[in-house]
Amino acid sequence: MNLDEKSRMPDDAILEAHTRTFSKSESDGDGVLSMPILGMALFTMIFVFGGIYLSKYSGDFHPFVFDPEGEPPSWDVGADGGQQVAVDGEKLYKRNCVACHQADGKGLPGAFPPLVGSRWVRGDPDRMVAIVLNGLTGRIEVAGNTYNSIMTPFSSLLDDEQIAAIATFIRSNPDWGNNADRVSAEQVSAVRASHERSNAWNVEEILELYPLE
Ligand code: HEC
Repeated sequence: MNLDEKSRMPDDAILEAHTRTFSKSESDGDGVLSMPILGMALFTMIFVFGGIYLSKYSGDFHPFVFDPEGEPPSWDVGADGGQQVAVDGEKLYKRNCVACHQADGKGLPGAFPPLVGSRWVRGDPDRMVAIVLNGLTGRIEVAGNTYNSIMTPFSSLLDDEQIAAIATFIRSNPDWGNNADRVSAEQVSAVRASHERSNAWNVEEILELYPLE
């Protein structure tokens, strides 16, 4: 009886404990409720930003899009008030051809033929334009070595002006021992129009149309 008397809590203590418990859980509830709204707003903003960023800069996830030495595009502010983007052959070469023909244009022995010192690049520009447009397959001899592999076509990836710029960069690059005239977009468009094919050239076909000089 003595024990019972001692362990009993006074009524006002019980009331106070309840008040504390309820008010505590109420303010917790407030905290829990307001955080997700802030968090959701933040995540929504991050997702929206991420979506816009990817759709603008992902480059359709093209395998050659990542260019570690890339620079921002240069703008040719001319008579058209800067509407026209300057087509930079070197940059396009780095983006589209370097994976195989290498930055120095010397290719990889046994796998990818060189563009430096190549008879296929010199002379009639239509030959290399046709190769870039449709790709090439079969046994080919370049600068004393033979290759037997496949080059992928670029006709749907690059427009006439871009292919012209790449051909001009390669054929007029003094570092590669070349100094040919520039190739125009009209020339590329004429080669494109002169044949209707979607498969790669084989070596015999291309040599018949565009023999080596
Ligand atoms: C996927 C690798 C690959 C890419 C990318 C590539 N090529 Fe090629 N290229 C080859 C291969 C392989 C050959 C030889 C094909 C054969 O064996 O018949 C070749 C052959 C050539 C040739 C004729 C042979 C020579 O060395 O002169 C030219 C010109 C050429 N490529 C230019 C280009 C240009 C310009 C680009 C970029 C627009 C390019 N290539 C992109 C793999 C590639």
